[in-house]
Amino acid sequence: MLRKRGSLILCGTFLFITWNAILVLLLWGRPPPGQPGDPGREHRELAERPTNDVLGDMLRMADTVEAELERQKQILLQIQNRQSLWEPSNINGPNVVIPRQPVIPILVMACNRVTVRRCLDKLLEHRPSAELYPIIVSQDCGHAETAEVIRSYGNQVTHLKQPDLSDIAVPPAHKKFQGYYKISRHYRWALNQVFKTQSHSSVVIVEDDLEVAPDFFEYFQALLPLLKSDPSLWCVSAWNDNGRDGYVDPGKANLLYRTDFFPGLGWMLLKEVWEELEPKWPASFWDDWMRQPEQRRDRACIRPEISRTITFGRQGVSLGQFFDKYLRYIKLNTEFVPFTELDLSYLKEETYREKFEKEVYSAPVVTYEGVKQGKLKGPGPFRLQYSSKDSFKVMAKNLGIMDDLKSGVPRAGYRGVVSFISRGQRVFLAPPPGWTKYDTTWS
Ligand code: UD1
Ligand code: MN
Repeated sequence: MLRKRGSLILCGTFLFITWNAILVLLLWGRPPPGQPGDPGREHRELAERPTNDVLGDMLRMADTVEAELERQKQILLQIQNRQSLWEPSNINGPNVVIPRQPVIPILVMACNRVTVRRCLDKLLEHRPSAELYPIIVSQDCGHAETAEVIRSYGNQVTHLKQPDLSDIAVPPAHKKFQGYYKISRHYRWALNQVFKTQSHSSVVIVEDDLEVAPDFFEYFQALLPLLKSDPSLWCVSAWNDNGRDGYVDPGKANLLYRTDFFPGLGWMLLKEVWEELEPKWPASFWDDWMRQPEQRRDRACIRPEISRTITFGRQGVSLGQFFDKYLRYIKLNTEFVPFTELDLSYLKEETYREKFEKEVYSAPVVTYEGVKQGKLKGPGPFRLQYSSKDSFKVMAKNLGIMDDLKSGVPRAGYRGVVSFISRGQRVFLAPPPGWTKYDTTWS
């Protein structure tokens, strides 16, 4: 896809230059436009009027074309340097077609794990352009060995170091959560670097234990316009909390959802949202804080059917229980989906909500036993209803999807509905029809 776009730009550029060269030749062949009395006229006539000296003519022609090409090159370079600031209407001139491609920095949060190498190697392997996706590695913890690994990438990445390595005073009961306080402090500092010091307008945040999929960059590039234009969205995430092998449709790599649950784990954030969150950024547990109604304010994130990140960090601040139970089984997408060429208008709020609710609530209701035993008849999808926190938890747990709720929102849920695959069939674990809001006491 990118190669196709590259050749389109090349073609456009070639046509542009050729056209201008032809123009130069035509103008050159015409009598000079100067009027009698024009002080420059005599000089131009001397310099530009063709003579019978064929070789001389050719040389002068070559000079003119060369100068003109150089001028065109400068113009094209200027266009290239400014394209991220331009709106689509400004660039679709008659001669040149350059698609609008904003710069999206990738912020990698690192600490003391040398395995950040796996994260960086994959980012660099799949990155289609260093200019469009500058990688900023922000390192906390002052770990020398990890710093050395990051340094070894030279100018392929920018290496920032969080300067405050002091311990954070925490309530005695939170002694064991010191790590979460440090993560929060680091996030605030690093995001301020990106948005305030470096003045970027968006960012994709990646933790050092994430590996990205081949279309990771394509995904975020394609979703940025939607994120910017839809105030009911506040993030785009690469992560499906229920994205385990067997629980997703392998034939639907292009399928995207809205979710009310903030997934994190490879996610895009805009400067405006950061400016809103930064003044009240929490001392710890920043991700669960994001999931509270006061922060989320009914906004959704986009998430994929098949994850564009996986985590390989068993050893981390949260010590692995979750990792072995769920995280390690998340399936990483392998097929490149050309998202920037797809029509993503189905994700707009109203369109999406109407279609989603129709699909969910017109699906036949089935029993838990029917799903569990794989006895569903018909093509699906099917609806499995829950009406209390406990029935949600029991069914989720037994069917193998995430059973925890944060501020009342189930993981990957949208309007209370969790969509997943069970024994090859699409199932919606859904509240009764007429859902209006989350019960924040469900946790
Ligand atoms: C979990 C979340 C993670 C979230 C964190 C904070 C999962 C799989 N992971 O972290 O997304 O950010 O809770 O609530 O749900 N780090 C520092 N300074 C430190 C320690 C760690 O900056 O002192 C960085 C790490 O480099 C990493 C991130 O913080 O980028 C998360 O640390 P990790 O050890 O992976 O903790 P998790 O338990 O996965
Ligand atoms: Mn982790």
